[in-house]
Amino acid sequence: MAIRFENIKECIGTRVSWDDRADLFTPEAAQAIREKVAERTVLVFPEISLTDEEQLAITQALGDKVRLTARNNVQSNDEDVYQVTLDEEINPQPEYVLGTFFWHMDGITVDMPPPFATLLSCRIAPALGGETEFASTYAAYEGLPEEEKQALEGLKAVHSVKASLSPIADAIPEKHRERVLNIGLVKEHPLVWTHGDGRKSMVIGTTADHIVGMEVPAGRAMLVRLAEWAAQPAYSLRHKWKKGDFVIWDNTGAMHRAVPYDKSTGRMMHRTSVAGAEAVAA
Ligand SMILES: [Fe+2]
Repeated sequence: MAIRFENIKECIGTRVSWDDRADLFTPEAAQAIREKVAERTVLVFPEISLTDEEQLAITQALGDKVRLTARNNVQSNDEDVYQVTLDEEINPQPEYVLGTFFWHMDGITVDMPPPFATLLSCRIAPALGGETEFASTYAAYEGLPEEEKQALEGLKAVHSVKASLSPIADAIPEKHRERVLNIGLVKEHPLVWTHGDGRKSMVIGTTADHIVGMEVPAGRAMLVRLAEWAAQPAYSLRHKWKKGDFVIWDNTGAMHRAVPYDKSTGRMMHRTSVAGAEAVAA
């Protein structure tokens, strides 16, 4: 097969190269890509410049496509492609994009298994900021001291949209702040996710508000400490976008965030998602 994989860091990240781009659209390629995403968490396809149709073809080859955010993009050609931008003319709800400046997992508060993978194509690369960072919660869990792993067993965290938007609440225009913050999506998840194949990751990030049965300050401190642990350089990767770059990551085993950027950079990403096959389980 004419697709090659080259590791970026020891615990996370693989760069993909190819001889002929048609090689990326075969069933064998889909299988290899899916396995590599699960194994390496983040796959980078440098400057491949996919069309929306090609991105959707890869999305559907990896599983069922899923629409994560209700369609609110004005100029999107396809309902399944979400345009990540701070431009209000295109995205009337930029607060969700501002929320991506903080570590999170996608689709963790909605009533379905968290999406297996998120796929992003860079249409306009910002000159300053706007990199995406990924932190492997598989590698981070694996690296915890044994006694800390045991201390996490059985713990559950409450996740909510409100918690994930709290860092940017002051930036939401007052006239719809209450409405946005009171979107009542709340989900309880085990802190440690034991996947069907037996591997374990952590379900953490800004959606996690507190830990069930713990004093709120102690639980929040634990959640912050775990996120900091996962974000350490050994378990994380920062991708500086070039126009045309395409990245797929395992949303069930990673947090991600964007380095802050300004609307004036024009940063524009096209996002699709692959449905999750399993619910979070202890
Ligand atoms: Fe996200």
